[in-house]
Amino acid sequence: MPVRFAFLTDTHHYPDAPENYGAPKMLTRSKEVLDAIPPAINALNPDFAVHGGDFLCGGGSFDLPTDTYLRSIDEAATTLDRIEAPFYSIPGNHDCDAQTGSFDGFAARFPLPEPLSIVDAAPRLRLALANVFFECDVFAQGSGVWSDALDQSLRSAADQALADGCALLLFLHTWVLPDYEGKGLVENAERLRNTLDHCPAIVAVFTGHRHINRITAHRDYLVVDTACLIGYPLGFREITLSENGYFTTHFHALDLAQLIEDSYDRSTLEQNRVWQGEIYDRENEILVPRLKEIWS
Ligand SMILES: [Fe+2]
Ligand SMILES: [Fe+2]
Repeated sequence: MPVRFAFLTDTHHYPDAPENYGAPKMLTRSKEVLDAIPPAINALNPDFAVHGGDFLCGGGSFDLPTDTYLRSIDEAATTLDRIEAPFYSIPGNHDCDAQTGSFDGFAARFPLPEPLSIVDAAPRLRLALANVFFECDVFAQGSGVWSDALDQSLRSAADQALADGCALLLFLHTWVLPDYEGKGLVENAERLRNTLDHCPAIVAVFTGHRHINRITAHRDYLVVDTACLIGYPLGFREITLSENGYFTTHFHALDLAQLIEDSYDRSTLEQNRVWQGEIYDRENEILVPRLKEIWS
């Protein structure tokens, strides 16, 4: 049986935001975006859904007051509870209190891996949900850290998955493979890449954070970076994993045409192309050798 799930990220809810902040974000309309998410995902009836972090606008950059932070957690959690499929998530750098750096308020409503949670999400499929902000100073290390504890936990989860005939998907908020700008890369990314290279149960890695769609076939696994849900191109991925080893992704923009256009108008054509990615960063069907090996 194929497995089909939704991956969404960087919803950045900010109640009564005073401005939109940097493009493509449309923070003054974050509630409109948030409310449109559950019906869009429920319409697909996926096996499960995963959020890649940055639910909120805490952390650096926005200087969010604590009472607004607490209100944003409640509104985001209550709205996303309307997603009918099992829902999993990881934290982003903007999910902590901007005044203290604490994730306690967030952890009261969303699970917080300490630092890695493993979930049996479907037959022969496990999720490794990584918290790259665990025990780190999120203001000084806004791209998170691939720590010893994360590395060891992932290696043992991958060994166990292989022994059990399960494929493993890794989710972390920040990037694993650099681009020409080199921004937003998790600290110790090279060590993580080495672990990925040597753990054949890991078939794909999912990230958010940079608000850019990009898919990279690296060695015999995939690295899937996804754009934000608070601005252009304002959508999420529907992913299907098939028994013959194929990974299929479709990008679903939310049904908010005017909002998408307003966000688009904040950037140059060139920058919008970067947020959106090439067509094959959104719509693609790729044979993943590791998935084929484990599932067929
Ligand atoms: Fe973000
Ligand atoms: Fe982020």
